[in-house]
Amino acid sequence: MTPAERIQQLSDEIRRHEHLYYVKAEPEISDGQFDALMRELRTLEAVHLELIAPDSPTQRVGGAPARGFDTVEHGVPMLSLDNAYTEDDLRAFDDRVRRGLGVGDGDPLPRYVCELKIDGLSLSLRYERGRLVRGATRGDGVRGEDVTANVRTIRAIPLTLRGAVPDVVEVRGEVYFPKPAFAKLNAEREEAGESQFANPRNAAAGTMRTLDASEVARRGLSAWLYQVVMFGAPDTSTTHEAMLQQLSEWGFAVESHWQVAASIDDVVGFCAAWRDARHNLAFETDGVVIKLNSLAERERLGTTSKFPRWATAYKYPAQQATTRLLKIEVNIGRTGAATPYAVLDPVLVAGSTIGLATLHNPDDLARKDIREGDWVVVEKAGDVIPRVVGPVLSRRDPGAMPWQMPTRCPVCDGPLSKPDDEAVLRCENSSCPARLTRSLDHFVSRGAMNIEGLGEVLVRQLIERGLVHSAADLYALTPETLAGLDRMGTKSAANLMAEIERSKGNDVWRLINALGIRHVGERGAQVLADHFGSMEAIAGASADQLQSVHEVGPVMAGSVRQWFAEPHNQALLVRLRDAGVRTDGPVRVQPEGPRPLTGLTFVITGALPTLSREEAQRRIEAAGGKVVGSVSRKTSFLVVGAEAGSKLEKAEALGIPQLDEAALLARIMSPS
Ligand code: IVH
Repeated sequence: MTPAERIQQLSDEIRRHEHLYYVKAEPEISDGQFDALMRELRTLEAVHLELIAPDSPTQRVGGAPARGFDTVEHGVPMLSLDNAYTEDDLRAFDDRVRRGLGVGDGDPLPRYVCELKIDGLSLSLRYERGRLVRGATRGDGVRGEDVTANVRTIRAIPLTLRGAVPDVVEVRGEVYFPKPAFAKLNAEREEAGESQFANPRNAAAGTMRTLDASEVARRGLSAWLYQVVMFGAPDTSTTHEAMLQQLSEWGFAVESHWQVAASIDDVVGFCAAWRDARHNLAFETDGVVIKLNSLAERERLGTTSKFPRWATAYKYPAQQATTRLLKIEVNIGRTGAATPYAVLDPVLVAGSTIGLATLHNPDDLARKDIREGDWVVVEKAGDVIPRVVGPVLSRRDPGAMPWQMPTRCPVCDGPLSKPDDEAVLRCENSSCPARLTRSLDHFVSRGAMNIEGLGEVLVRQLIERGLVHSAADLYALTPETLAGLDRMGTKSAANLMAEIERSKGNDVWRLINALGIRHVGERGAQVLADHFGSMEAIAGASADQLQSVHEVGPVMAGSVRQWFAEPHNQALLVRLRDAGVRTDGPVRVQPEGPRPLTGLTFVITGALPTLSREEAQRRIEAAGGKVVGSVSRKTSFLVVGAEAGSKLEKAEALGIPQLDEAALLARIMSPS
């Protein structure tokens, strides 16, 4: 098989598995097998640059962070929807539709399609000759932002459509956070001392506006599609049902719970059926969208300036309750971030009892002027952590005092300080028992060192008794010390010792994750381990070298550098290594044969957006390429930055292909 054929075969195979995994949620192979296919493709493409197709599965993230978003005008405006809050509103909508269509008594009733209303951000995607060329946000409905680079990272969105596709097609739908990805993002933000997203919609909007596509890729957004936009004369022969079917056939993810309703009674029934059942879904939904099924009938009804007359959004009532806020306490996270939370008089909201609720950060709390003893409105949106919406001022006790954020850590009494660029206060004492407990809980957890039998209660005991002051102390525990702990027999102590011993031989990615470096989760740890092979190599890597790794963005790279620069972290590593914990993995064998740019000659002209001339040259050379000063017929590529001069003219005259910085970096992808 030729390399071109193998690349084609691998790409098809990877696309098929992406579709099975991200669209159908029915994977056929393990993550490891999937990664192996990707790795083979990347390695082959690195050697055969000319064979990299723009819609290759390796091209989802490429290039340097964007500097801003271009504005794009929607060919067909992206309208919003009128709302319905009650059954009466739904029936009034149906009356308007029937009146508009001239449906009299005894005539067949218009049919509707009911879809779940996804709590995300609407997007418009344009495909030309079956390839994704543009993704745009709704913006004000007429103009949105070009977020193509970010959209390309969403694995549920195909880069290439399947089957017969018109030359140009635009589809619309919603990008959203699956609940686990949303929870993970907020947990990471809490740890990092960043403000949390109040709901998945804000998180999706915030993420789509992130300039670093590798960060977008990491967060795990997904997408459901629900509309094909017609160009020119609309095809009015068909139905919404057929459109959803068409979207699936092209390879898009279509939320599966939609139903055709034969009457408004069925619509009311659908809304009632999902009121509680929706909480069991893996994504957040805040209502039901009701749309006329017949596209011809839609055409007859038309739109107002803001809404289509043929659809409405039914919104479930907010899940709120009012209760007494008994006390405001402060939690200290793994990184020392101090976050206030509310202790409530327990109250039933949306089927579960809430006793604690987040108050986000002190600024938010001060802005809302929430005081101890207040009656407060609390809100719960599905799996989202309950939050205090605000105080009921009319019921405030006149003696209630404004709440003050403490200036000292409630656990170790060390000072809380606020780095200038952050919204939260932090306990800077790295041996604060609260921080230590959380760090150790993470260290031993399943996705980290995976030490079974060492749960939260035991960790707390070890710390309280002064037996453990850092993760390295776990490896100095003896069966005798363990046997002396509450509820610990000789047998359990021996089992735990065996588990601790076993963990020393873990793959190195587990240790990287266990250390709790900010912005480095399980996946990040695996990527780093895979590329560098050892803790020592990661410790010695520059921010640039870190960033040259596929999937490592500037935020993660900066955080890794910062972690290794701290003397107490270096000391921890030495102690772990001395205790026998493995700090290297099987050394990765560099692929035989040329590096990605071997045999290619580059000329650089103009100012590149993020790299200096020297840095660009260093990277090209590290990837096996050569950089020369002037353009000739032998030049393989001209790398073009801002205000390029005569070299650009000469290259154009000679027909030399050009790369911008992003394209250059994409080509330097490491053949990992
Ligand atoms: S149809 C012209 N279907 O809700 C019709 N919208 O409140 C366009 N949304 O802007 C929208 N799930 O962002 C439609 N199944 C669904 C939806 C949905 C969520 C969003 C969409 C829209 C907003 C209106």
